[in-house]
Amino acid sequence: MKVLVVGGGGREHSLVWKLQQSPRVTKIYCAPGNAGISEIAECIDIQADNIEALLDFVKYEWIDLTVVGPEVPLAAGIVDAFVKEERRIFGPDSTGAQLEGSKQFAKDFMQKYGIPTAEYRAFSSYQPAEEYIRLKGAPIVLKADGLAAGKGVIIAQTVDEAVKALKLIMKDKAFGDAGSRVVIEQCLKGEEASFMIVTDGKTVVPLATSQDHKRIFDGDKGPNTGGMGAYSPAPVVNESLRAEIMDSIIAPVMKGLTKESINFRGVIYVGVMVCEGKPYVLEFNVRFGDPEAQPILMRLESDLFELLKATAEGRLADVKVTWKEDAAVCVVLSSRGYPGSYDKGDVITGLDEFKGRDDVVIFHAGTKLKGHNIVTSGGRVLGVTALGNDIVTAKRNAYKAIDKISYNGMHYRKDIADKAI
Ligand code: AMP
Ligand code: GLY
Repeated sequence: MKVLVVGGGGREHSLVWKLQQSPRVTKIYCAPGNAGISEIAECIDIQADNIEALLDFVKYEWIDLTVVGPEVPLAAGIVDAFVKEERRIFGPDSTGAQLEGSKQFAKDFMQKYGIPTAEYRAFSSYQPAEEYIRLKGAPIVLKADGLAAGKGVIIAQTVDEAVKALKLIMKDKAFGDAGSRVVIEQCLKGEEASFMIVTDGKTVVPLATSQDHKRIFDGDKGPNTGGMGAYSPAPVVNESLRAEIMDSIIAPVMKGLTKESINFRGVIYVGVMVCEGKPYVLEFNVRFGDPEAQPILMRLESDLFELLKATAEGRLADVKVTWKEDAAVCVVLSSRGYPGSYDKGDVITGLDEFKGRDDVVIFHAGTKLKGHNIVTSGGRVLGVTALGNDIVTAKRNAYKAIDKISYNGMHYRKDIADKAI
């Protein structure tokens, strides 16, 4: 069977890496892919948001299954367009994707279906929003409504800071159109965890647990990034928390999807804050987390293709998903300057000796080929991911691998997974 993976980051590299292990997969394409992906799949020069060109490609090449990595094409309606043409695709339709694509949609959905989340109000004009901030006081959280590459959330410690942030979002349009509406919500305190499930709209299959590291520097300091490393399993999500999340969050989400006639055949990623033992939803994503997908997919024992295809066909109940006992740790190597403007074009060395290994895999994110060299081309460059008997060993293996890799301006956190140790 022929598969197309849409996207070109570390998440997509890990999807391609796992898909190519399936005996049922004969050929994998990736659009647009990156230098690492091009070693195991055929990369095609179509951007992830060019839905029309992707659909043409799928028809021309008789692709059996399309797997969408990032949120932007999902929110833009790639699944709606493919389903209309009866093409098999893994991901939610554009309404389902609003759970990530619009903070207001997500909050209204949660309110309607009784899903625990921070108290909030949504605004589309400046003045009442400022008044609400002054009424509620600080700390308070502001969220640009639309997709803002993980940067549209501001946690203001004072009212002045909140008003400044509101001006930045609504008047200066710091996040473009994403900021024409804003959600203002109560600031929750507690421990964060993320929880992912795969669903075909009927059956729910929880994925292995994982934990991301959002800040750029050690000790969770500095600005937020797309994610600087992740480990799996995550001990914070113990059996009782997992049961509580399934019961108070996933069950009503599934009920809401059915009630709203949303065609959701993909991943639901719930970012939760655990306050006094109870989980509250901070955000939904409608796709695999990146970098979380990397350690999770290295731990997946069963066939990823079967899982994704069955989900796309609405027969997830037929599939058995199994996990390795091993733990996995992924450390992201980034470019100098990230998450601000960053260097590009630096030659990466040391990658060759990891070829063919399955205990340590160097997933590429922002890389490209330049002549015979692999060079940096994005903020997050590589996800060095290693297995081990336990988290301590997996962490040691990942950092040992990093010692072999270098490029100008290479940055990474030294404390990935310490929280789990
Ligand atoms: P989001 O994109 O909504 O997950 O927000 C990004 C990050 O902001 C989250 O991972 C949390 O660290 C933080 N955050 C979001 N909403 C809240 C909230 N209501 N209270 C405290 N922190 C929050
Ligand atoms: N690592 C967080 C995300 O994928 O949104």
